[in-house]
Amino acid sequence: MNKVNIGIESLGFYSPRYYFPLSSLAQARGLDDDEKYGKGLWQEKMSVAPPNEDIVTMGASAAAYALEGVDKTTICAILFATESSFDYSKSAGIFIHDLLGLPQACMVLECKQACSSGAAALKISLGLLALQDSHKKILVITSDISLYELGSAAEPTQGAGACAFVVSTDPKILTIENYWGHHAKNVPDFWRPNYMLHPIASGKQSIENYLQSLQGAWQQYHQESNFQLQNIDGYCFHLPYSRMAEKAIIHLYKKLNKQTLPDEMFERCMLSTSYSKEIGNCYTASLFIGLLSLLENNASSLEGARIGMFSYGSGCSAIFFSGIISEGYAKHISQQHTRVALDERSPLSYDEYEKFHTFAVADASGNMAIPQYQTGRFRLDSVVGHHRNYATASS
Ligand code: HMG
Repeated sequence: MNKVNIGIESLGFYSPRYYFPLSSLAQARGLDDDEKYGKGLWQEKMSVAPPNEDIVTMGASAAAYALEGVDKTTICAILFATESSFDYSKSAGIFIHDLLGLPQACMVLECKQACSSGAAALKISLGLLALQDSHKKILVITSDISLYELGSAAEPTQGAGACAFVVSTDPKILTIENYWGHHAKNVPDFWRPNYMLHPIASGKQSIENYLQSLQGAWQQYHQESNFQLQNIDGYCFHLPYSRMAEKAIIHLYKKLNKQTLPDEMFERCMLSTSYSKEIGNCYTASLFIGLLSLLENNASSLEGARIGMFSYGSGCSAIFFSGIISEGYAKHISQQHTRVALDERSPLSYDEYEKFHTFAVADASGNMAIPQYQTGRFRLDSVVGHHRNYATASS
């Protein structure tokens, strides 16, 4: 166990101001109804980023919220987890460091391994904090835009959003337990070569790999902790689409207990899927949006509850870990904030969706004025000499 409690002090969320209803997608793709997306995937809406939003603007909006009430001078590192990066060299976190006025004595790093790098960044941050004065804190940002080819089987599993959290020795929300399960294997289930705009997804294989990795990661976690599935009060699984949570818990339970899943175990992972149904896959951020969903939608207090977290990163590397919910955690989250952010989004028509989907922030000249739409606190303003310029939404 950790000698001092370390974990999540604050959580900030952001998803773009536009969404595309999956009923409209079903219609556009010639389906008779939206049952396949609703009942088959448990997806209702997907957030769509306008041309002037990217991983930086989304991550900065989420991080600004996570930093409310935190002394910024204590931030000694930014770990930015993403698989929607737009630069081989410069970390997206550098832009956020500037936008949020964080201290110059700060390490900034981008982390990559598909969806799992957010959970990996959390684990790395625990190690980094052990090297620092105890009052120092680390800002972890997970931010992604999941974009597949128009008309592909993966299209209904798109989404966009960010979750940022401050990791410190004052874990007001979740104390991380020091038990970790990992599983890694070189598999071609989902990847995006540097020269391609959209990932290549082998859908069925990716689901199979997800489930095998869950089993593998659980095995190590179980060996370290000695916990059984029943010792975990709530589950957050990586959610490429919301129904994956059902597939995950059924698979794991059957493999370990050789029995059908009881309803009571099923309930333990349902609340983590509420926001995902309305947002879609946010890759690195999905797991933490699931945690927020569980914390904000549980009718009774979760104080002292053990939460199991599973992150699957295609390719593949997976992590299972757990944390204990802090006393008084409810004072540090706001269901109303998240609800307003989701409810105030505007629906897109099919033509608008396609226009946003196909907009490319790239031009041989390296100079581009970016069309302006509604954003959160920050927006992409222009590209000058191939360099992105950001601004606050009001400027
Ligand atoms: P698909 O081929 O369109 O869907 O792909 P399907 O035909 O398999 O249908 C999906 C489910 O809907 C099935 O249920 C159908 O029976 C059901 P299941 O067999 O799963 O139980 N269905 C219906 N149900 C009720 N009424 C109906 C109806 N019609 C069908 N009328 C797939 C689906 C998710 C594979 C596709 O969207 C895809 O390839 N998505 C991208 C890849 C992905 O999300 N993989 C998930 C695991 S990998 C992962 O999580 C990592 C990832 O996040 C990336 C990263 O790590 O960076 C993706």
